[in-house]
Amino acid sequence: MPRASQSPRQSSAAPRAAVAPKPGDAAGSYEIVKTDAFEWLAAAEPCSIHAVVTDPPYGLVEYHPDQLTKMKNGRGGVWRIPPAFDGRKRKPLPRFTVLTEKDRTSLAAFFKDLATALQRVLVPGAHVFIATNPLVSPFVYTPFMEAGFEKRGEIIRIVHTLRGGDRPKNAHEEFAEVSVMPKSCWEPWGLFRKPCEGRVQDNLRKYKTGGLRRPSENEPFKDLIHAAPARGREREIAPHPSLKPQRLLRRLVRASLPLGEGVVLDPFMGSGATIAAATALGVKSIGLEVDSSYFKMATAAIPKLAALTLPEYP
Ligand SMILES: C[S@@+](CC[C@H](N)C(=O)[O-])C[C@H]1O[C@@H](n2cnc3c(N)ncnc32)[C@H](O)[C@@H]1O
Repeated sequence: MPRASQSPRQSSAAPRAAVAPKPGDAAGSYEIVKTDAFEWLAAAEPCSIHAVVTDPPYGLVEYHPDQLTKMKNGRGGVWRIPPAFDGRKRKPLPRFTVLTEKDRTSLAAFFKDLATALQRVLVPGAHVFIATNPLVSPFVYTPFMEAGFEKRGEIIRIVHTLRGGDRPKNAHEEFAEVSVMPKSCWEPWGLFRKPCEGRVQDNLRKYKTGGLRRPSENEPFKDLIHAAPARGREREIAPHPSLKPQRLLRRLVRASLPLGEGVVLDPFMGSGATIAAATALGVKSIGLEVDSSYFKMATAAIPKLAALTLPEYP
């Protein structure tokens, strides 16, 4: 059963020690908290989380209240509506190319704080899967490595988005054969591990972490995943502007716990898609979200997304 809590900031109560789902809790149980992730992480028990699968606000500015208002009004700010070419209504996308030097500095500071906070709450050998994009990934990866995480690879999600590939703004005709940057056809997910205590086998025995779960005994977990943007029923259930598909998240969440035991955290859960994936897989999880409307969306969406049947997870 889900447990929903209010953030210390919202309730103005003293920050409580965050409690992960307990060993006796049912498989697939989850807790969602309306909170600032950094406040929650500061109060969380050390060495209590076994994996993180998250899609952070990597432009940082795009989820500030003023930018969300501009997105809802359809004018100005970092969100843009991709050009319509087939009569279909398109959802807004954040335009990361407008990040200034100041934005890039605060991006690196944000991920330094996140990596430092995660080092404390993760058990040795815990993996972090973190969504990014080819433009900003260095500002995510470097702070993680500086905070003591090992970079264990990168998951490449093949996905055709509407981002990039455009001709120079206001000079489309003059430079008809020029793209300012490549049209993006892939999404990188950084893969990090908190160093193991001793050998991987020792760490697996003690903490249930240190490796990645195979899809089957005969097949290793692979770093290339084809996963189209969430559409149809998933998007109806969870109309979050950055909704990630269950097809992708269920693979990542499954891989994140090598023995299928432990607690997965998504500190920036949005509509709760990671938590839904964990629930569908019978894995315990905790989701955090600072925005009231997205928290409400997640509360309703998680059970519905978790109930969806995917061909590879019947
Ligand atoms: C990229 S979205 C995640 C969307 C998610 N992958 C999904 O499928 O719905 C990032 C989310 O982090 C939230 N957020 C931003 N800053 C936060 C913070 N400090 N603490 C918790 N949540 C935060 C935003 O409101 C946003 O919903």
